Amino acid sequence: MAKKKIKRIGVLTSGGDCPGLNAVIRAVTKKAIHEYGYEVIGFKDGFEGLLFNRHRKLNEVDVSGILTLGGTILGTTNRANPYKYPVEKKGNFVYKDLSAQVIENLRKLKIDCLVCIGGDGTLDTTHRLSTQGVAVVGVPKTVDNDVKGTDVTFGFDTAVHIATEAIDRLHTTAESHHRIMILEVMGRTAGWIALYAGVAGGGDGIIIPEIPYDISEIAQHIKDRRKNGKHFTILVVAEGARPLGGNVTVQRMVKDGSEPKRLGGVSFIIGQELEKLTGIESRNVVLGHLQRGGSPSPFDRILGTQLGSKAVDFIAQGEFGCMVGVKDNHMVKVPLSRVAQGSRLVALDHPLIKDARALGTCLGN
Ligand code: F6P
Repeated sequence: MAKKKIKRIGVLTSGGDCPGLNAVIRAVTKKAIHEYGYEVIGFKDGFEGLLFNRHRKLNEVDVSGILTLGGTILGTTNRANPYKYPVEKKGNFVYKDLSAQVIENLRKLKIDCLVCIGGDGTLDTTHRLSTQGVAVVGVPKTVDNDVKGTDVTFGFDTAVHIATEAIDRLHTTAESHHRIMILEVMGRTAGWIALYAGVAGGGDGIIIPEIPYDISEIAQHIKDRRKNGKHFTILVVAEGARPLGGNVTVQRMVKDGSEPKRLGGVSFIIGQELEKLTGIESRNVVLGHLQRGGSPSPFDRILGTQLGSKAVDFIAQGEFGCMVGVKDNHMVKVPLSRVAQGSRLVALDHPLIKDARALGTCLGN
């Protein structure tokens, strides 16, 4: 089959934001214009802009000076899955499949290929569009680092830096007051941020969703530390951590989101239980969206640039229905069908888990 002649491409950012999105938008736009002479259309607020025709042409000047900016100049939302779009009816939400509207709008706008920058939810939508004949290329993002088919996502490095700095700061006050300090970080199903920041910050305990915790094991670890003259403890806990045989801690339920459970507060529960079991005072800090805000690290700026640049190469080569992934430090093509299969979790035999255990860090079991 003859290769499709590309004239105009679209780009959108969807799902939760993270540092480095603007680096990708900039790379896609500059490379598409510079190297291939394409026209670039940016959609506002993810699939929302595509559904309701909110878009603008992006020129080089529009993306100049955004490399170092956090967030996304295009805006984003995690409530606009076109296959399950929430529509309010008498105070309740019903979900509609509006994908035909997306496909029709792309046709009317003469978009030859759409670049979707997002996490697992967005990439799943991108895959579904691709199975309906839309030319798409995905770019993986998330602070959680849990997208299948790639060794790393941009945003993660910045989040680890922020969480590590928080641990460093908690260390000094924990030591002064002889307290247990618990830092709760993002990670609903995957504990990458907790593991990396926990190791980088020298956390005494690292509790991740992949390893259900036994509170008495953590308490014993703290008592052993005290016996050895350490009267304080730093724990790093992922928001999706859960006790053995128990459930995650839900902060609240929301009606209109793609993910109805808002997690949060497991660090408070762990702190209270540990106070009872050890007699040592505890405090908890939920780092929350600080991990997603602000300027991207140099690593994430570079990774975002490389991913965006490669996405445009794929378009030029007629390679659609795929995502740009990172494998052994190389940009590779990953079929979207492989990505749309859940989250990439921390393997229980991950080298960093082994190293942490070997150094006497408590993993909660
Ligand atoms: O990007 C993923 C994530 O950071 C999760 O770890 C977290 O639970 C969620 O997003 C919160 O996102 P929001 O508040 O934007 O719904």
